[in-house]
Amino acid sequence: MIHNIAIDGPAGAGKSTIAKKVAKDLSCIYVDTGAMYRAMALYLIRQNVNRNDTVEIGTVCQNADISIEYQNGVQIVLLNGENVNDYLRTEEVGNMASVSSAVPEVRQKLLDLQRKLAASMSVVMDGRDIGTTILPDAEVKIYLTASSLTRAKRRFLELQEKGTDCELSEIQKDIEERDQRDMNRTVSPLKQAEDAVLVDSSDMTVDQVVARILEIYHSKIADGETADEN
Ligand code: DC
Repeated sequence: MIHNIAIDGPAGAGKSTIAKKVAKDLSCIYVDTGAMYRAMALYLIRQNVNRNDTVEIGTVCQNADISIEYQNGVQIVLLNGENVNDYLRTEEVGNMASVSSAVPEVRQKLLDLQRKLAASMSVVMDGRDIGTTILPDAEVKIYLTASSLTRAKRRFLELQEKGTDCELSEIQKDIEERDQRDMNRTVSPLKQAEDAVLVDSSDMTVDQVVARILEIYHSKIADGETADEN
């Protein structure tokens, strides 16, 4: 029986950390759709595409073949056959991903890949439009958020740990701009699905958020299975 969990929310809400742990606990696969958009952004940066030219983005993206492999449960993103995992987590790539993911041709290219993964196995999939567009029938939908300051502080610590020089105020500004773009684009904007459960992690630890999502999962799946039996 395939059960899918959709986790959507703004940048820096902790989706990937949480989704990985939930997937591990439920022995299913974690699918990071942001990494697919980031791989596409990396391709566009490498091709020197003008980030303000949506027509050029729509054309050039057609030459990027993005696929996914799993090695020991870790998602590997392949861009035209190259493992690009190590290049995806920079602010430059994240900002380009936020811009290019608003282009319909980019979304269309990644939609099939995401749906096929979820149709073939139980997944915990995180992104922006998973509950609303990609998997409208997911058994469990979570909208995970936190204040922009909390999210900026988390990203700041993450970058500092990696030894990257950064300013908290700059990161918060970046996060707020990214929220604006992700929430206000025409195609698949970030928003809470009607049947998603809101989880605000501003004052929660990672373990508390994971426990809350597992509780929601078990209550929904248990309810669903009882309903099937009746
Ligand atoms: O979650 P992330 O920071 O890795 O995502 C990078 C960008 O990709 C984000 O600003 C918006 C976009 N994205 C999207 O539009 N839809 C998704 N399902 C996942 C990410």
